[in-house]
Amino acid sequence: PSSNSQMEGSSGLGMANCRAKGGSPGFKVAILGAAGGIGQPLALLMKMNPLVSVLHLYDVVNTPGVTADISHMDTGAVVRGFLGPQQLENALTGMDLVVIPAGVPRKPGMTRDDLFNINAGIVKTLCEGIAKCCPKAIVNVISNPVNSTVPIAAEVFKRAGTYDPKRLLGVTKLDVVRANTFVAEVLGLDPREVDVPVVGGHAGVTILPLLSQVKPPCSLSPEETEYLTSRIQNGGTEVVEAKAGAGSATLSMAYAAVKFADACLRGLRGDAGVVECAYVSSQVTELPFFATKVLLGRNGVEEIYSLGPLNEYERAGLNKAKEELAASIQKGVTFIRK
Ligand code: NAD
Ligand code: LMR
Repeated sequence: PSSNSQMEGSSGLGMANCRAKGGSPGFKVAILGAAGGIGQPLALLMKMNPLVSVLHLYDVVNTPGVTADISHMDTGAVVRGFLGPQQLENALTGMDLVVIPAGVPRKPGMTRDDLFNINAGIVKTLCEGIAKCCPKAIVNVISNPVNSTVPIAAEVFKRAGTYDPKRLLGVTKLDVVRANTFVAEVLGLDPREVDVPVVGGHAGVTILPLLSQVKPPCSLSPEETEYLTSRIQNGGTEVVEAKAGAGSATLSMAYAAVKFADACLRGLRGDAGVVECAYVSSQVTELPFFATKVLLGRNGVEEIYSLGPLNEYERAGLNKAKEELAASIQKGVTFIRK
């Protein structure tokens, strides 16, 4: 019998089944939190990505079932499951890209910052593992509050002596996906033809869509701009309320995360012109972290683009965004340095 899945710690069949496939080039990707609401559809979509040769699924629960299930997909990637902290190091060793959707999601009435107390510790532990086992991997942080968890990851890597700011990226792609969708709806366009830069961070007013820079060029009324900015900033809350206690965005997030991870892998492969918005270490503003368009390449973030011309509405939004972001960044840094 042949199968392309193996649970860590299993023997016999599994050992024979994890042979590398026919020398096909590809990247090794780990998903941490792979059994969760985001993790499962993200694992499914990553298994479909031809750039992925090995897919490691790590969680503290339920990875045997998810791994067995995903492994039956007739695509190239070899899938291996890892369960619990004692298997974290094996899950991470040799990885080129690590995607982190581990942590608790919001319920109605909560802010992303309300997740800090639980998720900060989870991200810290996982990043300590990355520093030890795959310090050169590109890291995509999805766990909220992203505005703080990325600074936490940076501090953990600094402490371990492995920090490379080019390789640490907070995933804000869902804000871009939403912005493209909502703007296309207003303009009567196909969302696939719309490109909206979203800068700042990933929470409330820190999510700053630059509607004056929409492609294709368009002219939105002040009312449309106000409506779209608010809808994009509150897109996460819209889903949290609709799910009414059952969590936050998972499916659209998995879609956004796999698009973003694919862009990171294309960059690693050496493709030219791979540009995405991401929350990274940055000098675009006076803040140490900020989301803008970045160029992805063989080393991760190869270039960070400036904000471009902002109108008055966007300049006011930027000031509000920076105030909240500064506090969230400081909170993350303090969590590790305290
Ligand atoms: P979920 O509760 O459905 O899944 C989270 C998974 O993480 C669970 O399977 C859980 O077992 C696992 N987990 C918990 N502690 C862990 C640990 N120490 N190591 C490994 N895995 C661990 O939640 P979800 O809906 O998948 O959301 C996950 C996170 O992503 C939340 O923090 C949420 O706010 C965030 N999120 C971010 C964005 C974004 O745009 N960046 C979008 C949506 C959700
Ligand atoms: C989102 O934007 O959907 C996520 O950050 C989850 C949330 O809590 O809103």
